[in-house]
Amino acid sequence: MAIHFQAENKCFTLYTEHTTYQIKVDAHGLLKHQYYGRKVIDTDFDYAFLNMDRGFSGNPYDCDPYERSVSLDTMPQEYTSSDVGDYRLTSLNIMNADGSYGTDLRYDSYEILKGKYSIPGLPAAYAEKSDTVETLIITLKDHGTKTTVKLYYGVFSEKDVITRCAVIINESIAAVHLEKVMSACLDLPFGSYDLIHFHGRHCMERQVERMPVSHSIQTVSSMRDTSSHQHNPFVILAENNTDEDQGDCYGIMLAYSGNFRMDVEQDQFGSVRIQAGIHDEKFSWQLKEGECFYTPEVILSYTNEGLGELSRQYHQMIQHNITRGKYHLARRPLLINNWEATGFQFNEEKILSIAAQAAGLGIEMFVLDDGWFGKRDSDNAGLGDWKVNLEKLPHGIHSLAENINAMGMKFGIWVEPESINEDSDLYRAHPDWALKTPSRRPVRSRNQLVLDLSRKEVCDYLFEQLSELLSSANIEYIKWDMNRSLCDIFSTEQSRDQGETSHRYVLGLYSLLDRLISSFPDVLFEGCSGGGGRFDAGMLYYTPQIWNSDDTDPIHQLKIQYGTSFGYPVSAMGTHVSCSPNMQSGRSTPFTTRAVSALSGTFGYELDPNALSKTEKEEIRSQINLFKQYYDLIHYGRLYRISNPFQDHCFAVKEFVSPDQSEALVNVIATDPQANPPLLHIKFKGLNENWLYRFDDKEMILSGAALMYAGYTIPAMPGDYSILQIHLTHVEEKADE
Ligand code: GLA
Repeated sequence: MAIHFQAENKCFTLYTEHTTYQIKVDAHGLLKHQYYGRKVIDTDFDYAFLNMDRGFSGNPYDCDPYERSVSLDTMPQEYTSSDVGDYRLTSLNIMNADGSYGTDLRYDSYEILKGKYSIPGLPAAYAEKSDTVETLIITLKDHGTKTTVKLYYGVFSEKDVITRCAVIINESIAAVHLEKVMSACLDLPFGSYDLIHFHGRHCMERQVERMPVSHSIQTVSSMRDTSSHQHNPFVILAENNTDEDQGDCYGIMLAYSGNFRMDVEQDQFGSVRIQAGIHDEKFSWQLKEGECFYTPEVILSYTNEGLGELSRQYHQMIQHNITRGKYHLARRPLLINNWEATGFQFNEEKILSIAAQAAGLGIEMFVLDDGWFGKRDSDNAGLGDWKVNLEKLPHGIHSLAENINAMGMKFGIWVEPESINEDSDLYRAHPDWALKTPSRRPVRSRNQLVLDLSRKEVCDYLFEQLSELLSSANIEYIKWDMNRSLCDIFSTEQSRDQGETSHRYVLGLYSLLDRLISSFPDVLFEGCSGGGGRFDAGMLYYTPQIWNSDDTDPIHQLKIQYGTSFGYPVSAMGTHVSCSPNMQSGRSTPFTTRAVSALSGTFGYELDPNALSKTEKEEIRSQINLFKQYYDLIHYGRLYRISNPFQDHCFAVKEFVSPDQSEALVNVIATDPQANPPLLHIKFKGLNENWLYRFDDKEMILSGAALMYAGYTIPAMPGDYSILQIHLTHVEEKADE
């Protein structure tokens, strides 16, 4: 049993393989958070926190007026409300029917269920057959306002993960307004933490920043209606001394793709509170009598074994319990995409010539990017008109797909269904389908507007159009793009409060994706938003891979992949080899370096093979061999970040180890060649110390212990961005074992 309830002291203890999480109902029915951390069994952690009378921290009315130590302002809790005496971050802010704010949350009941709960309309982790997962639901009630809050906990024992979400139910006889509803609150009363988060920009996503948690509120958020390039809905709280290999750390990941906020606050007594959920700015939700509101899911994980292990826990979770469908664990087809080769300027002949070259080299799928539909000769027109442009492709998509299939390749296609150009037939027919406020002209971005996915008829229309496209030809892959941040959030559907539009947009997007993936289960969907502008666990529930970045520069990718890898597995990161000099950075790099960099992701090509020399074409064949040889190791193995590209400026080193430890691959990329270089010494990780490992192409055999503890010195790597791959295989057990 992962969830234990002790009736005599009203204590809920959640166990995973290596962690313990505890919640207790106090004498007043208040729900206390007692512990989250390394596994400790059979303990009521009540002893660890002392209630004290604190000035200016008020006491609930039902406490003895002469015993002033119980205060919501100091108590570690599971979920908090505004205006009831806790002045720290608030999980829930409801404007009640009488105009008052606040919800007096008291324990009512609980349920323990086998398996994992799901969340209607929202992405949520699911249990695999082999998983032991249990659900705890704790019901809290405010008997005055007749508000019920249900807190859901999904306990994934083998994954060391606890998921959470909250459901708010209005049981009164009048409507109330939700002004803020967080998914989860986590209080850590002791310890000194750093906040690690992943900021960025278009073409440089998920850069790592680490800073001490201070006596202030630190917020990571997006108000762009996508999770954004600028901030990722994933943060880590790590004890100050935690590094890659040791130390306490907590991951907080939100499975949501719209406006979000994650706040960290250290209070007056040093207690740290972190919350995650939908951003409350411009949010309000009318909850009519009898209605309920579901928050997005938060995926929590903890380890005392450092940031590397925390990441590996998330990799397992995302791969096995978030991504779905035919391809979530299967090898993805090796693809070539024409975007960087042609932009909008192509015709059938050009596309077929790229495809024919690619097929000859052993590439498995051709993806036709932007420009194939409507009047799409530039990014100024056509979005919304998902019908083939017969000037460019006179024989249509069906025939193109057939021709490409005849070459032995699969065929995939790019779409950007959420956006619309004013110069499109769709806009001319339905100008009110675009998000626009009545009183001003909308902001254009890439000269496009955004369709109002909060409206069912818009989603239904997109479903029909995309179904028609997918049924019209043998399309086996969709790149689902979204190329702007939203604003002018106003839906012409009059019946609702506009504070609901943003969240309803995300719900519309999720339901559209869900309908499509259920109707076309064999199609591989890749998410994209100008690269990695919507790279989150919410989208990964529908699209098992997401284009990592529009910056395909292999050296910039090292940082982007490094940052992304804290929360997301290699199998989720779309990465391609592109031409040199790179189109975004202008940097020239060797072909092999570009391949080794892109191999730490889904892998593919983003170039015109017609422009390659004979030697380069030959090289593609060997890169494809590497891709096939190392696919399982890289995609199903364990990732170890050996170097930190934000600190180590000369080399980037990462290692993949097979789950049974019998094989390892270390990729080294020199990022700044040195004259008279210091020796580069690395320590392998994750090997079996008692085993012997043989280096490929060398007679050398060393023990796991030697490689991990004494380490290995990398031979000099002169030249521009040279690479080294070290592949080890377990040969035999040591005689003295
Ligand atoms: C975005 C994507 C690119 C490409 C273009 C097409 O920027 O990230 O990969 O598909 O759109 O317009």
